[in-house]
Amino acid sequence: MTSKRALITGITGQDGSYLAEQLLAQGYEVHGIVRRVALEDPERRFTRIAHLLDKITLQAASLESYPSVFSVFSGHTFDECYHLAAQSFVAESFQDGFSTMNTNINGTHYVLAALKELQPQCRFYFAGSSEMFGKVRETPQRETTPFYPRSPYGISKVAGFELTRNYREAYNLFCVSGLLFNHEGPRRGFEFVTRKITNAAVRIKLGLASELRLGNLEARRDWGHAADYVRAMRLMLQQPEPDDYVIASGESHTVREFCERAFGELDLDYADFVKVDQRFYRPTEIDELVGDASKARRILGWTPTYTFPDLVKEMIEADWAVLTQPATRNIQDMNVRVPIKKVLPKERPN
Ligand code: GDD
Repeated sequence: MTSKRALITGITGQDGSYLAEQLLAQGYEVHGIVRRVALEDPERRFTRIAHLLDKITLQAASLESYPSVFSVFSGHTFDECYHLAAQSFVAESFQDGFSTMNTNINGTHYVLAALKELQPQCRFYFAGSSEMFGKVRETPQRETTPFYPRSPYGISKVAGFELTRNYREAYNLFCVSGLLFNHEGPRRGFEFVTRKITNAAVRIKLGLASELRLGNLEARRDWGHAADYVRAMRLMLQQPEPDDYVIASGESHTVREFCERAFGELDLDYADFVKVDQRFYRPTEIDELVGDASKARRILGWTPTYTFPDLVKEMIEADWAVLTQPATRNIQDMNVRVPIKKVLPKERPN
């Protein structure tokens, strides 16, 4: 057990909630940054951390404002800071690249600058992404693989990674980046393809929906479970020296295979229900991602506990549990949802 104090940005998200649980179990005092609007709407915004609310401290702050971030670091001393907050939906970043860049790049810069100014002893984790590898230069991707991002989101993560490395080298801060491949689970947002599929498959089984519209079924991703991946974040901050690590399962599967397995769990054939819809294609796609996590295995002693079939099964079972209860059945129907439309000066295609 430890007596450390940790700060998590993005604590209300999938990764933030699993990380908060794991840090609490290790004896940490856990603080999280949330937007003020979230505090005013706890029932909707805090669903993933509702069971933790009496054990954690939430601080209202905006990652879009340096003074706001500065004030969080003025109030408490932290041993570790996990910077997970971001606009993390790749498709959305094509619709509004400006917001994605502002939030993801400036937010990271503000946290690093406040750390340097007020708490240079605090260890810093940056949530890097396999999306940074983009149009991949080698397979599998490892820490030394050059970046070639293919989306505004990916570009923003490369910038965050470079900021993190520069603060480490220029100011001697303990700053690391995790290059995490796709990680999923029952707390995944409905806009991401895995949750969209498991939620729709269960709805179809229950007669609540009749089809599922998806984009590119041939894209290959290296999918793991978020609970396994956040464990690696903490391990990175316990090392004697700061360094960057790829976290991945080492297996890639197509979106089609994910559908096949998810519908198969319910004794359904995905081909009877899945329709390809051009609206869900991206202007530039990443065809295949697959990571080599041997450095993390060797140095951190990290290994994933979930297999691909375990992951899909757990997500299907969780959606089944939610959708068979009348009280929770009416959560958003992703089957008909397209990426959120923003009011733009001129309408452009997705
Ligand atoms: N979301 C979505 N919706 N994706 C679809 C759909 C659809 O209807 N149809 C096909 N796909 C394909 C996408 O084109 C992409 O190739 C793949 O499914 C996975 O899409 P997402 O689940 O949205 O994840 P992502 O790979 O773009 O990004 C996720 O992983 C990154 C790590 O590589 C996000 O979690 C990022 O934040 C994260 O950094």
